[in-house]
Amino acid sequence: MSATVLDDAQPARSDFEWAVETHGLTKRFGDNVAVNGVDLRVPRGCAFGYLGPNGAGKTTLIRVLLGLTHADAGTMSMLGHEVPRHRDLALARVGAIVDEPRFHGHLTGRQNLEILAAAREPAARGRIAASLERVGMSQRADDRVAKYSMGMRQRLGVAACLLGDPQLLILDEPMNGLDPAGMHEMRDMIKSLVDEGRTVMLSSHLLDEVERTCDAVAIVDRGNVIRQGSIAELLAGSDVEVHVVCSSSQRAQTILTSALSGARIDVEGEELTIHLPAGTDRDVIAEINRQLVHDGIDVYHLQQIQVSLESWFLSVTSRLGESE
Ligand SMILES: Nc1ncnc2c1ncn2[C@@H]1O[C@H](COP(=O)(O)OP(=O)(O)OP(=O)(O)O)[C@@H](O)[C@H]1O
Ligand SMILES: [Mg+2]
Repeated sequence: MSATVLDDAQPARSDFEWAVETHGLTKRFGDNVAVNGVDLRVPRGCAFGYLGPNGAGKTTLIRVLLGLTHADAGTMSMLGHEVPRHRDLALARVGAIVDEPRFHGHLTGRQNLEILAAAREPAARGRIAASLERVGMSQRADDRVAKYSMGMRQRLGVAACLLGDPQLLILDEPMNGLDPAGMHEMRDMIKSLVDEGRTVMLSSHLLDEVERTCDAVAIVDRGNVIRQGSIAELLAGSDVEVHVVCSSSQRAQTILTSALSGARIDVEGEELTIHLPAGTDRDVIAEINRQLVHDGIDVYHLQQIQVSLESWFLSVTSRLGESE
């Protein structure tokens, strides 16, 4: 009865903007603030990376979202449903893997899914075959899980999530324990789930993986979200790096230091690395060349470098004196 009342009060929603939204979300363990006033906005229909070093509070945030532990402060919603108030409605369309997926090793993959489906709505049972197919496990579905590799267990975990036909998948460190081929498969699988219109939120400490897999990211350190947005946006906000190889690098450094305000210039042998602030106009790069040639320095090589999210992430954390 109470489910009916809830349904009437708040039916499945399609008008929400964010798949996950939190305001001031806080979780403490004694004096340790694992999640510190987090305002998170996960756009719908994308792969979103919750990226941070070990101990940053990634798993804790996910556990709070799923109701596995309570928040000390703040508000949150998933798929437009406020939680914990409407947790049942939200979780009906959320599939999650926190930590390593746990299965009965002495049963087959298919039998494990049958047990899980029995605990869900009647339609879940009818999705078993398609879910196994979807994660490429149909051939091995009747082998015992004890014989599965880590990658196969992860895939079975995703198949278990798909039993509920989720709009949102929350995966805690889905690349953990996978070899390069397994990571590649997981990445492709996440992309195809997003192509079907689902939202995938994953946590990771692997910056490179997030950059390759996700469309948008939040960078978290010591419980605080430092930045969030699309990867393209974050890169646009990153510093510009220009590499120059020239005939007199020391003299070039002196000349450019006085010519360019706000630039940091490192010299190594013949090569200069010029760090320019975010948003620097490309005319400045032409000016570097002009200035050097004007002062009689031969320029052999000049290149603007696309800063990877990884180096950007490291520069942000080290700027805060929090490099791990
Ligand atoms: N149940 C708990 N009791 C006490 N402290 C905890 C508990 N769970 C997590 N913590 C602490 O909260 C902080 C965040 O931990 P959390 O596991 O969320 O980090 P994480 O980002 O998932 O790290 P990892 O990359 O290692 O998985 C850490 O300082 C951790 O020691
Ligand atoms: Mg964790």
